[in-house]
Amino acid sequence: MQQETEVSTTLKTYEKLGVFYLGREFDSQKGETTQEPFLYDSRDLVTHAVIVGMTGSGKTGLGIGLLEEAAIDGIPALIVDPKGDLANLLLTFPELRPTDFAPWVNPDDARRKGLEPDQYAVEQSAAWREGLATWDQDGERIGRLRDSAEFRIYTPGSSAGTPISILSSFQAPPSALRDDQDLLRERVSATVTSLLGLLGMDADPIQSRAHILLTNIVDHMWRKGQDMDLGTLIRMVQSPPVERIGVMELESFFPAKDRFQLAMTINNLLASPSFSAWLEGEPLDIDKLLYAPDGRPRMSILSIAHLSDAERMFFVSLLLNQTLGWMRTRPGTTSLRALLYFDEIYGFLPPIGEPPSKRPLLTLLKQARAFGLGVVVATQNPVDLDYKGLSNTGTWFIGRLQTDQDKQRILKGLQGAAEDTGGSQGVDTDNLSQLLAGLGKRVFLMHNVHENHPLLFQTRWTLSYLSGPMTRQQIRQLSPSRGEAGHVSEASEQQRPVAGATSRERSVAGTAGAGAALSTRPVLPPEVVQLFLPRGSEGADGGSIVYRPCLLAHFRVHFVDTRKGLQADDEGVWLIDITDQAVPVDFAEAERSSISPSSLSNAPADGATFRPLAVAATDAKRYKQWSRELADHLYRTQRHPLWYSDALSEYSQPGESERDFRIRLMDLAREKRDAAIAALRKSYEPRLRRLQEREEQVERQVNREREQESRAKMSSVVSIGTSILAAVFGRKLISTRSVGHAAAAARGWGRASSQAADVVEAEKKLESVQSETEKMEQELELEVHGLEETLNPLKERLATYELKPRKTDIEVRLVALAWQPN
Ligand SMILES: Nc1ncnc2c1ncn2[C@@H]1O[C@H](COP(=O)(O)OP(=O)(O)OP(=O)(O)O)[C@@H](O)[C@H]1O
Ligand SMILES: [Mg+2]
Repeated sequence: MQQETEVSTTLKTYEKLGVFYLGREFDSQKGETTQEPFLYDSRDLVTHAVIVGMTGSGKTGLGIGLLEEAAIDGIPALIVDPKGDLANLLLTFPELRPTDFAPWVNPDDARRKGLEPDQYAVEQSAAWREGLATWDQDGERIGRLRDSAEFRIYTPGSSAGTPISILSSFQAPPSALRDDQDLLRERVSATVTSLLGLLGMDADPIQSRAHILLTNIVDHMWRKGQDMDLGTLIRMVQSPPVERIGVMELESFFPAKDRFQLAMTINNLLASPSFSAWLEGEPLDIDKLLYAPDGRPRMSILSIAHLSDAERMFFVSLLLNQTLGWMRTRPGTTSLRALLYFDEIYGFLPPIGEPPSKRPLLTLLKQARAFGLGVVVATQNPVDLDYKGLSNTGTWFIGRLQTDQDKQRILKGLQGAAEDTGGSQGVDTDNLSQLLAGLGKRVFLMHNVHENHPLLFQTRWTLSYLSGPMTRQQIRQLSPSRGEAGHVSEASEQQRPVAGATSRERSVAGTAGAGAALSTRPVLPPEVVQLFLPRGSEGADGGSIVYRPCLLAHFRVHFVDTRKGLQADDEGVWLIDITDQAVPVDFAEAERSSISPSSLSNAPADGATFRPLAVAATDAKRYKQWSRELADHLYRTQRHPLWYSDALSEYSQPGESERDFRIRLMDLAREKRDAAIAALRKSYEPRLRRLQEREEQVERQVNREREQESRAKMSSVVSIGTSILAAVFGRKLISTRSVGHAAAAARGWGRASSQAADVVEAEKKLESVQSETEKMEQELELEVHGLEETLNPLKERLATYELKPRKTDIEVRLVALAWQPN
C-alpha cells in the first residue's frame, strides 16, 4: 500500500513535466519487465512516431496509452480510426464497477469463456482494476483523464456518432495557404482526385480530362479566394470560368456534350440519399475538432470503419488537407501542441502509387514539426510504409513481427532513415535484430533519435477499457444527442467581455416618424447629405419600397495603451432615429449596423415612397452639431474589452474570443513549462555530469578491486535517482548503459577480502556520490513542485481590462441623413 501511493505521487510528478508514462523498461537479458517506469518526452513527438507490429502485438494498446497521456497533458488529438478500436477511448470508468463494463463487453468473448455477459463484466472489471494497480494506476487517474479533455466520436457519412459535413472542405483555403503555390496546387489536386475516387472514377491527374478540367476550375476559384460547393462545381463544369486548358480551346479539349456527362455524374452523387449524410453535421473544421467551445482540448475520434475504400480515401485526404491548412494559420511553437494519430496507415502512405492522401501526409511529416503537430502512425505490415516519407520520423516503436522478412524490412527502413537524417546515432542492425528476435506481446523496442540507444519496454495497462471494435449502435450510445452538441458550442463561443453600451437591442418599428407613408421625397437643403441604404436580399422582389429616415454615423475609434503596448481599432456604422422631441437624436439609442459604407447609394430605388421626416432632420446645421455630439459620446462610452491572464501576464488580442485566448494561453503555458524544464536541465546538467564521472571512476576502481562485498548496497546505490532525474533529463543524460555497467561491476565485486580497506574506501566514495545525487534529486523535486498548478489557463479566472480611446483618436467620418428601406 505504502509503495503504491509513493509511485502514484511520482506519476503525478511526471504529469507535470510533460513526460508520458508509456510502460516499464524491459530487461532483454532476463526476459522480464523491470520496475523502472518507461518515460517518453512528449516534445520528442513533434518529430513524429511510427508503431509497427504484427496483429495482436499491442500497437493499439500503445497508441491508446499514448493518447491518454497526451489528453492528461492537455494535448488534443485527431484520431483516424479505420477499425473501430480507438472509440474505446470513451470507455473510461473511474469507479470501475461491473455495471460500467456490462454494456461494453464483447458477448462473443463471454460465450467463449462460458460466461453470461454480466458475469463476464464482473470478471472484466476485476481484470481492469487489477491490471491498473499492477501498473500503479487507479480510478482516480481515470477520472483525471476524463476531466482533462473532451472525447468525441465523429462518423463522417453516417449519423451514428457526431456526423461531420464535408461542405466546408470546398471552401477556399485561408490566404496563408493560397500564397504558397505548391501547397495550393497539392490541395486542389488532392481534393479533385478524392472527389473523382468517390465518383468511382480512378483518374490519373495527368491523363484524365475530367481531372484536368476540375483542377482548373477549383484552382481558378480558390486563387480568387472564392468558396466552392458541389452545386457550384456542377454548374462550372458546364460553363467553366476558363476558356483554354493549356494551349487548347476548351471546346476542343472537352466538348460541352461530354462536360454535361461529367456534370450529371457529379449531380447523381449529390442527389443520392446516402451522400446526403456527408452534408450534415458539424463542419470539418480542425479548430473545432481540436478544441471544445470552452477551449478544452478535444480528442476527436474520426471513425471510418463503416466507409468504403473510396470514401475513406476521400475523407482522409480532405481531413489531411484541412489539417495542413489549419496548421499554417497557427504560430510556430517548439512544444507539442496537438497530435494526429492513425491507427492503421495501410493504403494511405504506400511506397508505390500516389493516392491523394500521400502528398498531404508527406507534407505534414516534413513541416508539422515547426507547428508542434506530432504525427503518429501505426501499421501491421512494414510493407505498407513509404520509408522515404518516414525519414524524418524521430521515434520508432517496433513490436513483435510476423516474419524474419518483416524484421529485415524494418531494419533497412531504419537504416535508410538514419542515413537520410545523417543522425549521429548509427543503426546497429545486428544489435537491433537480436533485440527484435524474441519480443512478446505488448513489448516494444523504441528507437528514438533523441536517445543514445534503443530500449525495450512493455506497454502499461490502458486506462480505457479495451473492448475491441465498436459497433455503430455502441458508437451511437457514446455520442451526445445532436441538438445538444450544436447548441452548446454556438452559445459559449460568442462569449466576449461586456463592452460599453454600443448596440442596444431595440425594435425598429414603433419609433418616431411611423406616420403614413408619403409618396414623394421631401425637399431638403442641398447641404444635407442624403444616402440610401441597399435593400435586404429577402423580400426584395416585388412590392414597392418604403423608406424611413434616420441618422447614419460612420466612425472609427482607435484604442491605445502605450504603457502596456496594446492597441485596437473599431470601425462602425450606427443608425439612430431622428425624432421631434426636445433632443431629436439620442446616441444612447444607436443601433450598430452591419452595412458597409461603400454599399450606400445617392439615389433611391424606383417607385419608392417615403415616411415623414422630423423637423430637426431638415436643418443642415444640426448635422454639424450631431457630429460633435457623436465624438463626445464615443469618447465617453467606447471601450475595447480585453481579457487578461495574470498567471501568464498576457492580454487577449483585439477580436480574440475567450475560447481562442484560452487555447493560446494553453500553448503559451506549455511552452513556458518546457522552457522551465530546459532551464532546469541546463542548470543541473554540469552537476549531473560530475556525478556520473565520479560514478564511473568508482566503477573503474571497483573493477580493479574485483572483490565481492556489499553487493546489495552497490546495486541500490546505482539505481537511485532514476525517478525524478529520469523524468527531467530523460535517459539522455542518465545513460542506463553506465548505470548498467556499474551494477554489473557491483555484482562482480563480491567476496570479502584482505583488501577490505580499499573496498571501504570505494564504498565511501560511492556513498558520497549517492548522497549528492539524493540531494540533487530533492532540489529538483522542489523545483518541479514549483512548476505545478500555477499554470492552468483553462481554470484560471481571467480578468477583464478595458482600453479607452483618446479624444484625438476618434474619427467621425460621416454623419448624414440615411433612408432605410423597410
Ligand atoms: N496496454 C494494454 N493494456 C491492456 N490490454 C492490452 C494492452 N495492449 C494490448 N492489450 C490486449 O491485447 C489485445 C491485442 O492488442 P492490440 O489490439 O493493441 O493489438 P494490435 O497490435 O493493435 O493488433 P491489430 O494489428 O490486430 O490491430 C487487446 O485487445 C487487449 O486485450
Ligand atoms: Mg490495432
